[in-house]
Amino acid sequence: MTKSLIGKIAIVTGGAEGIGKGIALSLAKSGATLVIADLNEEKAISTKLEINKLSPKSAAMKVDVAKKTEIEECVTRVISEFGQVDILVNNAGIYTDDWEASLSINIMGVVNFCESTIPHMQSREYGKIINIGSMSAHAARNLGGPYPTSKAAVLRYTKGLAYELRNNNINVNAVCPGAVWTSFQKGLQAQSIENDETIIDTNLYDSFLQKYSDVIPMGRPQTTDDIGHTVEFLSSDSSKNITGQCIHVDGGAILRD
Ligand SMILES: NC(=O)c1ccc[n+]([C@@H]2O[C@H](COP(=O)([O-])OP(=O)(O)OC[C@H]3O[C@@H](n4cnc5c(N)ncnc54)[C@H](O)[C@@H]3O)[C@@H](O)[C@H]2O)c1
Repeated sequence: MTKSLIGKIAIVTGGAEGIGKGIALSLAKSGATLVIADLNEEKAISTKLEINKLSPKSAAMKVDVAKKTEIEECVTRVISEFGQVDILVNNAGIYTDDWEASLSINIMGVVNFCESTIPHMQSREYGKIINIGSMSAHAARNLGGPYPTSKAAVLRYTKGLAYELRNNNINVNAVCPGAVWTSFQKGLQAQSIENDETIIDTNLYDSFLQKYSDVIPMGRPQTTDDIGHTVEFLSSDSSKNITGQCIHVDGGAILRD
């Protein structure tokens, strides 16, 4: 990995664990200074300490992305402490059947973080925004519940924002992960085992592999590093002419939808 992000300041929401932590580690390996913006302060601090070995000035901040005032305070604090925000990764997301929680975190969290950061990026004529979607945004088999609907909204918002910011040297893209073994997936598998009698394997990881073996043509799950490397590319100037796109890191699942 090249040190393509030396001198860059990156905020990763939901960066304390799972995919967000993988993204934060990839950006730190490329030389960026990280702000881990997460609801879980304890985990955010422990991730920050791990990242400090690669990127000593990196920080953790407690933020609930469902709360606009907390987002505004976080962005103001990052600009005052670090002088700039170059990269914003909107990764925090939850899976729930509660429409209000889903929309306020998965889509309004993204919109509010973008709105708080964009005036600063516009004033510097520089910025990289990467929003984390999901393969479920496209798949009819995911029906029309709050999670796939909120993720479809993230992708549509990404496209519109990319066009709006086309003359500001701000790239806005999305990454759609397939199936990554994180706490999020552990929760989903525990629920599936409870509700679906066709799942015969009650070992959580094996039932996860069983569930996705049919969905992912390449026949393997994705890793937090897979998503991290893609976000690192979209955060770098190697991708300066890519905007409004969604990169599917899903072992080909999109080919089936
Ligand atoms: N794991 C997968 O298979 C998968 C697949 C497709 C998309 N995604 C998406 O990737 C993103 C990360 O998922 P993950 O699997 O790493 O989840 P995870 O549950 O393992 O981690 C999510 C992180 O977000 C934080 N978070 C949750 N709510 C928050 C809030 N309101 N404010 C701030 N932080 C909050 C949590 O504390 C946690 O650190 C999500 O947007 C998810 O929808 C995940």
